[in-house]
Amino acid sequence: MQDLMSDAEVIKRVFDHIDNKTTDLADRVWREPVESYVSDEHFCDELEVFRQLPVVFCPSAALPEIGSYVARVAAAAPIVAVRGNDGKVRAFYNACRHRGMIVAEGMGNVNAFICRYHAWVYGLDGRLKHVPGDDGFPDLDKEEHSLVQVTAEERGGLVFVTQKAPLSKGALAAVPDLLSPDQKVFDFTQFYDNANWKLVVESAMEGYHIKSLHPKSFYPYGFNNLNVVETYGPNSRLVFPFRRIEKLRAVDPAMRSPEGMLTYVYHMFPNARVSKLSSHHQLIIIEPEAPDKVRWDFFRLLPSHRDGEVVDIDAAIKDSDFVKDAGLIEDRAAACSIQAGLATRANTHFTFGRFEKSAVHFHEQLEIHLNMLPQHNS
Ligand code: FES
Ligand SMILES: [Fe+2]
Repeated sequence: MQDLMSDAEVIKRVFDHIDNKTTDLADRVWREPVESYVSDEHFCDELEVFRQLPVVFCPSAALPEIGSYVARVAAAAPIVAVRGNDGKVRAFYNACRHRGMIVAEGMGNVNAFICRYHAWVYGLDGRLKHVPGDDGFPDLDKEEHSLVQVTAEERGGLVFVTQKAPLSKGALAAVPDLLSPDQKVFDFTQFYDNANWKLVVESAMEGYHIKSLHPKSFYPYGFNNLNVVETYGPNSRLVFPFRRIEKLRAVDPAMRSPEGMLTYVYHMFPNARVSKLSSHHQLIIIEPEAPDKVRWDFFRLLPSHRDGEVVDIDAAIKDSDFVKDAGLIEDRAAACSIQAGLATRANTHFTFGRFEKSAVHFHEQLEIHLNMLPQHNS
């Protein structure tokens, strides 16, 4: 992949923007029809794109050992990812091959998956190992009743799953090292909003709203409309600097550390983002549930250990609760209010300006992938 800017380059660019009262700009303005936030048909097409792309499923760190598993619904499909006896991560549709019950729930560690309905047993490799009272199934071919596998791949500290032959490499076209498998996942939370999934994705794609939407949460610590934005493959990275970055002006550029001075937000196309703050990291996966309903799957992780450093979990929880309960609540309310307003058809389009570079790139990529679906090619 093309290299993202180094920390030193990012910090220099932030100072240039502060000095010149500028921000990174998109090449163009994007007009998105509001229909794409309400249409059932469009929503089904988007879900099809999700199934035909590698999508982020969980952090590698959520599968630390043999037998560790995560079961979630991704792109409307219950899926379980598990680390096998060979250390490899595999993913399966979370549906028993007897009569379809899920075989795993939440997160945990198992030697085998035992369906709760009638106790069929599957190995970590998905193979059907045991059927209680198997004389009741005289012709059952166990080999043919393994869990149905979907493609799983670990890259950059993330597990990706792909349900169908992919339209493109998707987010995998360019994955930097985002998270480390040795980080600790200290929380996993799910919550719902009455909003289209794209409204939630877009809410973290620009800093143009920091002063107006977050006057008491983020703005006292950050800048309005001042971001470094890079695109890589279909993905993008935004930098949100803190005001205290000014302290680094006095530091030799070669010695400047971004720790505590900025937040990196990596958007992984189409529906995941990793935010890296000094006290904690978060992976948010934004799952479309209906045109006007979205589920947030929110993993919170401690940063990697550095030699000799004691990771302060209380600080991580306090800091990440502030982000989740203060700023994020304002973003969620905005997304829900936009969705409610769509019923008026006051707008035919939403306009993303040049300050909203990451959102423009996201919509360009989504349109490219929607156009790859077979019905759009006929
Ligand atoms: S549905 Fe799983 S054992 Fe019957
Ligand atoms: Fe926001």
